[in-house]
Amino acid sequence: MQKQAPPLVAIIMGSKSDWEIMRHADETLDRFKVPRECRVISAHRTPDALREYVLAAEGRGIEVLIAAAGGAAHLAGVVAAHTVRPVLGVPIPSTTLQGLDSLLAIVQMPAGIPVGTLAIGKPGAINAALLAVSILAAARPDLRDQLQQFRAEQAQRILDETLP
Ligand code: RP5
Repeated sequence: MQKQAPPLVAIIMGSKSDWEIMRHADETLDRFKVPRECRVISAHRTPDALREYVLAAEGRGIEVLIAAAGGAAHLAGVVAAHTVRPVLGVPIPSTTLQGLDSLLAIVQMPAGIPVGTLAIGKPGAINAALLAVSILAAARPDLRDQLQQFRAEQAQRILDETLP
């Protein structure tokens, strides 16, 4: 059996209930064949496990961390507090406030500990993965080529659109 490459990206989510949205980040990274791992770790339900995971991540070769959470979404901020690797936050629309709560929680990080914040829900999950690919592509020409190809195909699809 072929040995799996060690993960370059960690996709962390506060609850299994976030997977329905975060699977789009996983699928997007899969399209670019980026090795990644997906984990449920909560900032408030499993704070010690989160700290341990993030502190070990860089040593295991993780270069970008994507953190997704809903409600009072402190996951991405806590992850960023424990690493100098780039952290991308995805607000999950899991409460009656439809993700506006999590968007504000993630985007309003006080100066000093940055979190790159994406859109609420599926578009944010996809863009977090694309941004992770862009970050990795800075040192990987093959990934840069793949991103160019992705953009070209996307543009062609728009140009090929027909209306009824
Ligand atoms: C957050 O609370 C999670 O990220 C999730 O979006 C939300 C609800 O979690 P569950 O109660 O569904 O586990 O921590």
